Amino acid sequence: MKVLRNFNQIITLKKAHELDGRNLKNCDLSIIENGSVVFDEEKIIWVGADEELPENYKNIPYLNKKGHVLLPEIVDCHTHLVFGGNRAKEYSMRLNGADYQDIAKAGGGILYTMNKTNELTRSELFDLACERIERINSYGVGTIEIKSGYGLNFDKEYECSLIIDDLKQKYASLGIQIINTYMAAHAVPKSFASSSAYLDEVVIPLMKKLVDDGVGIDFVDIFHEAGYFDNKDTQKLFDMAQILGLKFKSHADEFIDNKGAVLAATSGASSTEHLLCTEKDGIEALAQSSTVATLLPGTGFFLGKPQAKARAFLDASVKVAIGSDYNPGSCHCDNVILVASLAAPHYKMTLTELWAAITLNAAHALDLREQGAIIPGLKPRFSCFAVDSVDEITYSWGRNFKASLL
Ligand code: NIG
Ligand code: FE
Repeated sequence: MKVLRNFNQIITLKKAHELDGRNLKNCDLSIIENGSVVFDEEKIIWVGADEELPENYKNIPYLNKKGHVLLPEIVDCHTHLVFGGNRAKEYSMRLNGADYQDIAKAGGGILYTMNKTNELTRSELFDLACERIERINSYGVGTIEIKSGYGLNFDKEYECSLIIDDLKQKYASLGIQIINTYMAAHAVPKSFASSSAYLDEVVIPLMKKLVDDGVGIDFVDIFHEAGYFDNKDTQKLFDMAQILGLKFKSHADEFIDNKGAVLAATSGASSTEHLLCTEKDGIEALAQSSTVATLLPGTGFFLGKPQAKARAFLDASVKVAIGSDYNPGSCHCDNVILVASLAAPHYKMTLTELWAAITLNAAHALDLREQGAIIPGLKPRFSCFAVDSVDEITYSWGRNFKASLL
């Protein structure tokens, strides 16, 4: 059992947890000043003001955490960090006026990274991913979702899913939780006549093989977007995932409102992500569902596109998370705290909504219901910052506080 005492603040999100991450008010951060916490390997046992610490915990040797703030563990619920090469040139081209989709049509984009990824071996890709995970972890992020999707052929996609599985095993022993998302449906290689041909010949058979081989896939994802995968492809993949007992989600409404949010919400997706162009019907469908809306403001900033209508989602009682979308093309920024801090004033998001978006709601987007708040019974997954108050973290845009997970 561990006893940690005298945190300047413990940001419990107790009330936000009770409200299932929706309709949050400023006080729903549920801050305990001069707080203490007691936990074992499995769960949080007690949390409260230090002056209320029960007698039986007072005899246990403890660590004094004065000068620190404790938060529910920060989760990055959307990354694509297994890839080769980089697309620095594309960013410069975009600054000089080119458009993301035009660059992709001219041989750049996801298919460029596919070639670079196929040039690297399994161990080279693994080593690159380790560097990236460790940098993300240094910001205080303890759970990281990783999508495959730059192999884009049967063998390399299989390898990418195995790499993510290897990463999951390696980092579990260090307290970092990796979530493995299968996203072979990320783009259609030019050798296939259509998206449905690629889906039938690669994406679905490989999904079945991963299940048959017992590779621990946590989610299936698809880029539901004009020029990538259409409504029919997406519905088919969702149906197949369901038959195989896999949870599913989508990248939706990023460049146009193709009703991706509506489809995800009405199909029972765990989350749907991007949503830059989602309109009223998509927002309403999400509000009536348990599908989390994962917004990725870094991508809007990186591509220079108008941002998602975050306030409309929040005001409609949608459960909103924020992810980094760290990837080589549309957002080469791996710091979800920076992304959320930058976005909040544009999104007109409150501090409570911001923190819920990268802790509680981000965990729920990954169906991790046992974490996301500091209350007895939940898992002891924390992010601990050496600051005097929570305000300092989002105030210092982009500073790496080297927060620990405890
Ligand atoms: O989430 N939108 C689709 N996939 C990635 C971009 C991938 C890339 O450009 O390499 C995203 O933004
Ligand atoms: Fe993405």
